[in-house]
Amino acid sequence: MFEQKKERILSGMRPSGKLHLGNLTGALENWVKLQDDYENFHFVADWHTLTTDYKHSARIWPDTIDMVIDWLAAGLDPEKSTLFVQSHIKEHAELHLLFSMLVTIPRLERNPTVKEQIRELHLEDRVSYGHFGYPVLQAADILMYRAHAVPVGDDQVPHVELTREIARKFNQVYGKVFPVPKALLTKFSRLPGLDGSKMSKSKGNTILLSDRPDVIRKKVRSAITDPQKIRMGDPGHPEVCSVFTYHQKFNPTEIPEIEAECKKGTLGCVACKNNLSDKLINFLEPIQVKRIRIEADQSYIKDVLRTGNSKARKEAQETMELVRENMKFGYFREIEELKWTKV
Ligand code: TRP
Repeated sequence: MFEQKKERILSGMRPSGKLHLGNLTGALENWVKLQDDYENFHFVADWHTLTTDYKHSARIWPDTIDMVIDWLAAGLDPEKSTLFVQSHIKEHAELHLLFSMLVTIPRLERNPTVKEQIRELHLEDRVSYGHFGYPVLQAADILMYRAHAVPVGDDQVPHVELTREIARKFNQVYGKVFPVPKALLTKFSRLPGLDGSKMSKSKGNTILLSDRPDVIRKKVRSAITDPQKIRMGDPGHPEVCSVFTYHQKFNPTEIPEIEAECKKGTLGCVACKNNLSDKLINFLEPIQVKRIRIEADQSYIKDVLRTGNSKARKEAQETMELVRENMKFGYFREIEELKWTKV
């Protein structure tokens, strides 16, 4: 019996240190699930961090290790998934440079995700060249491994769209090297922060996978619920409550009761929050037990990255040989072997 060759997926994450529940539900959980059906490649997008935070490059490596520990604790299995670090595979930089010639400035200006980021960070007239162009680096990240699909949240779809265009353009100009990859959208919509706004480390509205039970209880107690529900008897509106969104994800079986009793006013926010804390603590316990074990074993972490990097590097080198060959760059051979005629 032949085993059908699995399609390859690739996805990356910027190293933001210890991960939060939003990273888990928005990406990581999905990567873990896909491990059995695909050949997975996952990488730490460390060069991408420089787009918004070039001054703190010294933080990137410790943040990388913290993030990789969370990846492993949450169930990414290095036997099934190749885990590697972008900046350790220099070929990404070369492919990025070559791709940068295939993309126009007006095309980059139409990217809604980059536009929004520039607006949010007030960078309108001082965005760096690298920040503005990072979707091209992302195209290099993806196409380097000739991935078929890219599991991402909806904010990343414009980058996958650009990647598809670059793949087609390269293939058309230099010959077919790249498959045209598709986005694999994450199903669960984005988990909000405890204040109801977008979950982000800089806003302090997260729950970390590594938060201890007392920290979880404290954070959940301070969560913002329905502003119209002030006292226990007041009827609530679960649809506007961040705590309810968390129950939907982490406590699905009790949803009908919680919804009905909140609306009636018989369920108070304090009890509802305590219940959620219990569920979160239970949910995170096995991840935390694993995390503590992995964190104590530096040689295991190093092994995982050494093995992942070397698998990734081999793929990247093969791709770059094809790219150089198709572009008729001679330097993949020895100078002595080269022959040329004037064109
Ligand atoms: N830009 C992605 C993010 O901010 C990270 C990333 C970089 C990525 N390269 C990638 C994701 C390639 C998927 C594929 O989350």
